[in-house]
Amino acid sequence: MLPLALLMLASCNNPVPQNTPLPDSASRKWWKEAVVYQLYPRSFKDNNGDGIGDLKGIISKLDYIKSLGVDVVWLNPIYASPNTDNGYDISDYRAIMKDFGTMADFDTLLKEMHVRHLKLVMDLVVNHTSDQNEWFLQSRSSRENPYRNYYHWWNAERGTPTPRWSFFDVNSDAWKLDTPTNSYYLHYFSRQQPDLNWENPVVRQEIYKMMKYWLDKGIDGFRMDAFQFVAKDTTWPEFPKGYEQDIIKYYGMGPHLHDYLKEMNKDVLSKYDIMTVAEGAGSTLDDAMDLVGPDRNELNMAYHFEVMDVGKGKPGYDLLEFKKVYSKWDTIFSQKGWVSVFLGNHDQPRMLSHWGSDSLPFRGYCAKMLNTFLLTMRGTPYAYYGDELGMGNIRFETIDDYRDVATLNKYQHLKATGGNVDSFLESEKRFGRDNGRTPFPWDSSANAGFTSGTPWLKVNPDYTLVNAAHEEKDSASVLHYFRKLIRLRKSNPIFVYGSYHLIDGYNPEVYSYIRELQGKKVLVVLNFRDHQAAANLGDYLKGAKLLLGNYPDSAPKDVLRPFEALVLELP
Ligand code: GLC
Ligand code: CA
Repeated sequence: MLPLALLMLASCNNPVPQNTPLPDSASRKWWKEAVVYQLYPRSFKDNNGDGIGDLKGIISKLDYIKSLGVDVVWLNPIYASPNTDNGYDISDYRAIMKDFGTMADFDTLLKEMHVRHLKLVMDLVVNHTSDQNEWFLQSRSSRENPYRNYYHWWNAERGTPTPRWSFFDVNSDAWKLDTPTNSYYLHYFSRQQPDLNWENPVVRQEIYKMMKYWLDKGIDGFRMDAFQFVAKDTTWPEFPKGYEQDIIKYYGMGPHLHDYLKEMNKDVLSKYDIMTVAEGAGSTLDDAMDLVGPDRNELNMAYHFEVMDVGKGKPGYDLLEFKKVYSKWDTIFSQKGWVSVFLGNHDQPRMLSHWGSDSLPFRGYCAKMLNTFLLTMRGTPYAYYGDELGMGNIRFETIDDYRDVATLNKYQHLKATGGNVDSFLESEKRFGRDNGRTPFPWDSSANAGFTSGTPWLKVNPDYTLVNAAHEEKDSASVLHYFRKLIRLRKSNPIFVYGSYHLIDGYNPEVYSYIRELQGKKVLVVLNFRDHQAAANLGDYLKGAKLLLGNYPDSAPKDVLRPFEALVLELP
């Protein structure tokens, strides 16, 4: 990949493409043209007063979802689970989590979505199961059990296993000694999430059957959780010291991953018109293309983590880095393959707090500006529930308010090892995953109208200001702007298929780019700062016409107000 300076220079000096063709009908796909709405079921709408969002709650809000203009809903896991990791620990792949309802509720949900022409994408969590899954209960019961090879075991008489780092374990140790059979099992995530053994063809066939079960019900795709980790080198080589700092390189894209995907594609995916998206895209350009290249017969698209590393662990972030990452990923997929565009999800803080500012008086402008970015880039946009209202981080003061296993276990670890828990709590206010998981604010009544009971995770107290009912009534709200943006995207294929061209690349405050399709051009200008900032747009502004702006009196110009966003049509 080009170094930053070269990349910026290259894109600034290259002429803007003049006649990017509309792809032929075979290359145009519904999942490229769609806008995805990611919904965290636990926090969307509680229907029965137990404080936990549920399927009936979602059903009751489908008209709201439809009104946004989105096409696809991705639901975080709703399968039976003891909830160590909020459903990412599945005990039964063919049952619905009790907290969420029944299979009958699911069938109604799917039917009601399809009636409204909304598609449903489910999370597919097959790197690991719950330790309460029947497969694991069998597997751990004896070394001779037929399910033994469903998981990775290391018999203790061989000594301690080659070290493997764990994302969530209190000791960061991915091997756990299990006394019944005096063997260690592998868990990249928590101890309650043992990793499946993909080398076992029986496991793969079980998973494919399970996938068909859901696809035959009529779901429209899968988001494949932690999929780049499923393939492991089971000779268990030693990794160099400090490898956990570069974990994707060591855990991602293991041996046979592409064989598994090709097999899955042949046996399952290719038989349905669905959308498939992998979490993670490896660590190199080739990795990414190998997953989603149209000639590869593997997946439709991937989402990469690189942008989430921009500014990680530091206050603020460098907009030039941010531009570089997005421009790089656009370049990778400019000729073939497809990418997802996102600014937040259930593993991240709220995009508003992370990439902008949730403080008054700017938060509304800023939420609109960030949504403008999300919905005018090339790639399939993933809007995260609540970002259409401009939700922000909750910033818990005490560990008792957190529910996320990642935060809780890290805290335990620091406490046990004499680490600095105060500075950890401070940094979780910025980065903790629960910031992005608080209940959806429906209105200004108690608990934001999310539940009549006690919410499982505290409602952000700013709900009196930021809630759907209030924004519905205010034509200048983030919500109304979000709908306008989606209408704009849908009304012009330039936003989906147009080329992307960075301009004024070195500007550390304003992000500007041109999208071009069949000679038509749109210029997007975004001020990422909470103060006035200049864009060097030169002649580009000549004859420019406003399509959308986030200030009441928006007009084409190159000195932007705080968090100002302009979408301009060029002659
Ligand atoms: C993925 C999910 C995350 C989960 C982890 C383990 O990264 O997005 O929420 O904790 O996998 O399943
Ligand atoms: Ca409930």
